[in-house]
Amino acid sequence: MTSKMRILQELEKKRGENVSGEELAGMVGISRAGIWKAVNELKKEGYHITAVTNKGYCLCSDNDILSSEGIRPHLFDRTAADHIMTYKTLESTNKTAKELAAQGAQSGTVILSEHQSSGRGRMGRGFFSPANSGIYMSVILRLGVKASDAVLITTAASVAVAKAIEEVTGIYAEIKWVNDLYVEGKKICGILTEAVTDFESGNIEFIVLGIGINFATKSAEFPTEILDKAGSLYYEDPPNGVSRNRLAAHVINHVLRLEDDITSKSFLEEYKKRSFVLGKPIKVIKPNETRLAKAVDVDSNGGLVVEYENGEIDTLSSGEISIRTQ
Ligand code: BTN
Repeated sequence: MTSKMRILQELEKKRGENVSGEELAGMVGISRAGIWKAVNELKKEGYHITAVTNKGYCLCSDNDILSSEGIRPHLFDRTAADHIMTYKTLESTNKTAKELAAQGAQSGTVILSEHQSSGRGRMGRGFFSPANSGIYMSVILRLGVKASDAVLITTAASVAVAKAIEEVTGIYAEIKWVNDLYVEGKKICGILTEAVTDFESGNIEFIVLGIGINFATKSAEFPTEILDKAGSLYYEDPPNGVSRNRLAAHVINHVLRLEDDITSKSFLEEYKKRSFVLGKPIKVIKPNETRLAKAVDVDSNGGLVVEYENGEIDTLSSGEISIRTQ
């Protein structure tokens, strides 16, 4: 770890308190002049750090730049922060994660970016990813699961993120099958799961779980074409001390336990509870046709059981649905 990151780590531990230059120099093992230089670099990166003679340095409480050191204190397993990489901007965190996974990056590696220039959504769509107001993250997972479990991973991930959001913000998010999260009728989070499968064994080599949370994006910022559907956790009111780093950490805590959730299928009950699709009239959108149906159940593999108007029952394992208003 660089001296700069070590300093950030120490300042994070005492966020809102003064730490003397001498103390920092002793902990990091560099000179006081070196501390001063590194603190200035952190300030240039946007960290709010005060420097007061005879008191020392203080990382202000309002600081919320995404960083492994900002996330670390909120992790169950703090060493997981050693595998978190943060960027100012990337084309897509999923793209970078897939490249790193192909080069052998370990399970639990997390890629976070403050901005994505070409964020990817499901069905070839884009994902609007403005700077500093969202959480755009991809987690590399090497789980012992089969490609046939793909829907389960996706459904389990949506429960994991919904629980993390509730723990940190107190906001209850509902789930639209497969894995979009909604608050007050607006989509606040989308999940894109991509996997590389071993063709012969049918085993998944690695999964890249891409999670995009609109944290404090204001309505005026959304492009007009998604304005009526898109929302954010703090759409109108400011986050009031709720930090993106803490939310990212809770998401990581849950995601790193996904394998257990998938094996026990324990998340399915919560998934159904949070579903705002079950019992509703829906449209099933297939490549060549759209059919009217009713969402009846979620099966033990995460598939959506639907009943078409002619009474035919079908279980969807992928694809797109929309709720019918009439
Ligand atoms: C969807 O709503 O269709 C899925 C959106 C997934 C967006 C996230 S943001 C982080 C990760 N990187 C991407 O390019 N996409 C996912």
